Amino acid sequence: MRGIIIVSFLVLQSLVVSSSQSAPDFNFFYWVTYWPGAICESQKGCCPPPPEAKTSSDFMIHGLWPQFNNGTWPAFCDQTNLFDISKVSDLISRMERKWGEWGVWTCPSNETKLWEHEWDKHGTCVQSIFDQHSYFHTNLKFRQKLDLLNILKQSGIKPNDGFYGLEEIKNAIKCVIGFAPGIECNEDVEGKKQLFQIYICLDNYAKEFVECPYVPDGSCASKIKFPKSPKTDSCTDSQSVMPSVSTT
Ligand SMILES: *[C@@H]1O[C@H](CO)[C@@H](O)[C@H](O)[C@H]1NC(C)=O
Ligand SMILES: *[C@@H]1O[C@H](CO)[C@@H](O)[C@H](O)[C@H]1NC(C)=O
Repeated sequence: MRGIIIVSFLVLQSLVVSSSQSAPDFNFFYWVTYWPGAICESQKGCCPPPPEAKTSSDFMIHGLWPQFNNGTWPAFCDQTNLFDISKVSDLISRMERKWGEWGVWTCPSNETKLWEHEWDKHGTCVQSIFDQHSYFHTNLKFRQKLDLLNILKQSGIKPNDGFYGLEEIKNAIKCVIGFAPGIECNEDVEGKKQLFQIYICLDNYAKEFVECPYVPDGSCASKIKFPKSPKTDSCTDSQSVMPSVSTT
């Protein structure tokens, strides 16, 4: 008797799961961009894109990440649909300009590896709403919609190695999209906290900005540095990204 109840419960549960496959099974998205200047000015140093790369030193897309309200996230959900660059061939030229790789995650910098990682880790978990093309296209759409550098500049916050209030930076963005973003910092060579990544929260269909249900711990200080835009030739050589150990 008990066995029958359990079995029928399992059958029912699997029916519910399969019939709700088109609804997102996560709670919201982070759409994350990074500031290349914070890489070149970091203890790690940067590994600039090759001169032929079309990447600029504006905010660069990192990716669109499904999240749970409790601060955890699904990852690497499907090994059978890995990144296939031929599925986004019409988007490549825009991706090269807005989704470049400044040696943060791969060195020598390789943007294809970053795109591959973003789809394989995060994109495969959002297939209830996106295929590969719409995942990458949605990232580009938000990048076009939200000119973060300009938004900050209009509030007098500029990449000039100056220090700005963390709340001031959040408020400048909140004034435009209605909700405060999460800010992640890293450290410059002197150990000063600087603006590294901006997390914008989106609803679980990636349509609207929302109040962040969970704010990432950004390890910032109350005043943070906004490093200058990197110049390719001022960056650390691609072979020497490890911090040099002081021998004195
Ligand atoms: C967070 O929420 C997800 C989805 O509801 C759940 O699967 C996971 O176990 C939770 N993790 C923790 C640490 O609470
Ligand atoms: C960049 O990464 C892609 C994907 O992993 C790989 O196919 C390609 O060979 C890499 N390019 C270089 C120049 O290393």
